[in-house]
Amino acid sequence: MDRKEFLNYMTGGLAITCVSCMMAACSKDGTTPSNPTNPNPNPTPGNTALLTVNLSNQMLSVNDFVAGGGVIVVRIATGNAVTSFTAFSSVCPHAGSTVQFQPQSQSFNCPAHNSNFNISGAVTGGPAGSGLTKKTVEISGTTLTVK
Ligand code: FES
Repeated sequence: MDRKEFLNYMTGGLAITCVSCMMAACSKDGTTPSNPTNPNPNPTPGNTALLTVNLSNQMLSVNDFVAGGGVIVVRIATGNAVTSFTAFSSVCPHAGSTVQFQPQSQSFNCPAHNSNFNISGAVTGGPAGSGLTKKTVEISGTTLTVK
């Protein structure tokens, strides 16, 4: 008895049939997850958070900032209103380097070619031809989210 005969004998032919049916079904509609252990790493609809900050212990003073996830968020006023913060992509519009916040001048600088941006994200110097990309800040309780 060869392998196929053995499997047919043991399962009545179901195992081979089912496996081939499942493979055919997956390949037909293209829904085979690329990562079967985590097929949907972002399962919450509309969850596009780039950065989350706990305002109970972070960004307590004006000019405090947090960078990460490709964004920078800066506290520009007291209180925990959305208008107390501003957030931008940290990707320099000139050539894609990472800009850094300069608290002492309340501005952003790109160390690659020395482009500068004001607190509104507008270019104030350097080779960049456009300003920083503004990001949305949302606050729920003491959790700030940049999207
Ligand atoms: S990449 Fe930022 S100034 Fe050139």
